[in-house]
Amino acid sequence: MIEPRTIRFTLNGVAVSSSVMPHETLIEVLSQRFELKGARESCGQGLCGCCTVYVDSKAVSSCLYLAWLADGAQVVTVEGISNGQKLDPVQEAFIEAGAFQCGFCTPGFIMMVKQLLDTHPDPSDDEIRHYLSGNLCRCSAYPEIVDAVKLAASRRAGSEQLVREVR
Ligand code: FES
Ligand code: FES
Repeated sequence: MIEPRTIRFTLNGVAVSSSVMPHETLIEVLSQRFELKGARESCGQGLCGCCTVYVDSKAVSSCLYLAWLADGAQVVTVEGISNGQKLDPVQEAFIEAGAFQCGFCTPGFIMMVKQLLDTHPDPSDDEIRHYLSGNLCRCSAYPEIVDAVKLAASRRAGSEQLVREVR
């Protein structure tokens, strides 16, 4: 008989535990046990990026990621990237650039854009398109999404400059 097992992990900075079945995916556990609905299951096959979360600082498709593999890991969802009431600069940039229509794909894009800017602080258009090629937007808001990436990059560069000046 297949038995559930208890996993313990850190979710958006809080230590949590959950009983999971071997076949359950991380997105199922996040949405059904923890009521976190930001990451959405769409294709369920690792093709659209709507379900992107970070596991130990790496973006993963949580529709394909078996929940028990998160045992002992640090999991971060789109709900965990703001600083209290203050949105992450990438979230702000998406709002300011109007980089969504229905918003279904937006959490996945935001998670990937944050990771993109961590590794490429000043990405070219080609780098942006290449990096986000695994994220699909059915509303085709791609031009505004690229604008949002550039806006977020400039904001982040500006705040780093400010930090350097204060020091
Ligand atoms: S729902 Fe996970 S990649 Fe599409
Ligand atoms: S804004 Fe609707 S799917 Fe991207």
